[in-house]
Amino acid sequence: MEKFDWGCLPFGYMKTDYNIRCVYRNGKWGKLEVSDSEYIDIHIAATGLHYGQEAFEGLKAYMGNDGKIRLFRWEENAKRLIASADGIKMAAFPVNMFREALFKVIHLNKKFVPPYGSGATLYIRPLLFGSGAEVGVKPASEYTFLVFVTPVGPYFKDGIKPVNMLICRDVDRAAPLGTGIYKVGGNYAASMRAIIAARDGGYSNTIFLDAKEKKYIDECGPANFFGIRDNIYITPKSESILNSITNMSLIEIAGSLGMKTERRQVPVEELSSFVEAGACGTAAVISPIGKIFDPEKNKIYEYCKDGKPGSETMKLYNKLTSIQNGDEPDPFGWVTIVE
Ligand code: PLP
Ligand code: COI
Repeated sequence: MEKFDWGCLPFGYMKTDYNIRCVYRNGKWGKLEVSDSEYIDIHIAATGLHYGQEAFEGLKAYMGNDGKIRLFRWEENAKRLIASADGIKMAAFPVNMFREALFKVIHLNKKFVPPYGSGATLYIRPLLFGSGAEVGVKPASEYTFLVFVTPVGPYFKDGIKPVNMLICRDVDRAAPLGTGIYKVGGNYAASMRAIIAARDGGYSNTIFLDAKEKKYIDECGPANFFGIRDNIYITPKSESILNSITNMSLIEIAGSLGMKTERRQVPVEELSSFVEAGACGTAAVISPIGKIFDPEKNKIYEYCKDGKPGSETMKLYNKLTSIQNGDEPDPFGWVTIVE
């Protein structure tokens, strides 16, 4: 194993040895190809470049104490990429080829899987885009799928330490009937202004509200939101947020730990009733929220007053990460060992 400072890795790009590519042409997908280049040769009129015909996924490989590498609910990522492809009229990448590409890219980059207990993981980034040339606004007839990996540390620098969030009212990430439910690049481009404003103000990220009424919580930058009170896990239901696989899992875990769960619209004012709050996602894992500032109302919602994550959040975090790492049995059948 190469010597990396695993404990200090940022959530960023590090070159690894290989990536996998595959091209859809003449109505069918070709073979998976291994590349050692970090670059792609792309047509100047590719729809992915001009019209945002692009979708991606994010999942992680976890090294267990038993030396086995585990994937968490990869089929959900495969299905979501198909849904995103359909949402912006791209060719779907088949589930069986998605699995083969994941296994291959992990095997070829095994030395980059961070060791058990390091706090780092191997982030896997599948990408699908229109690589065929068009000038009119219409779907390409050629698509490229690729997947690369990169070892990462926590998305929010503070890891499991509480982060502060800024409510955003002057930028919409996604419209109710738009592409918010798909994992397409345009949503992230739309979020950048707000994220930079939040960071410039000293916040970790932005809480987006529903675009139509600005009454309800949508999501937290690249993560879903949850709040906890009276043993209830409450998370927003919205037409414009990404259906987080982590959040879906936390809802089931919360239920299995005896908590009630609610997935429904969450009005901004309800923030004052939560005892704990957090952001959840593959990259974020669970990031407890310390404070949320609403600049329009000049109001601060405060959690974790002692600077520590709340006990319910920690229970959820420990259960989720123990299943992902293989420290605890996986009663849900979520984990796949990469043989
Ligand atoms: N919301 C957005 C906008 C995201 O980019 C992500 C990350 O994928 C999530 C939520 C969390 O989703 P998941 O738990 O499937 O990673
Ligand atoms: C993930 O959690 O996998 C994401 O895709 C977040 C990413 C946009 C940083």
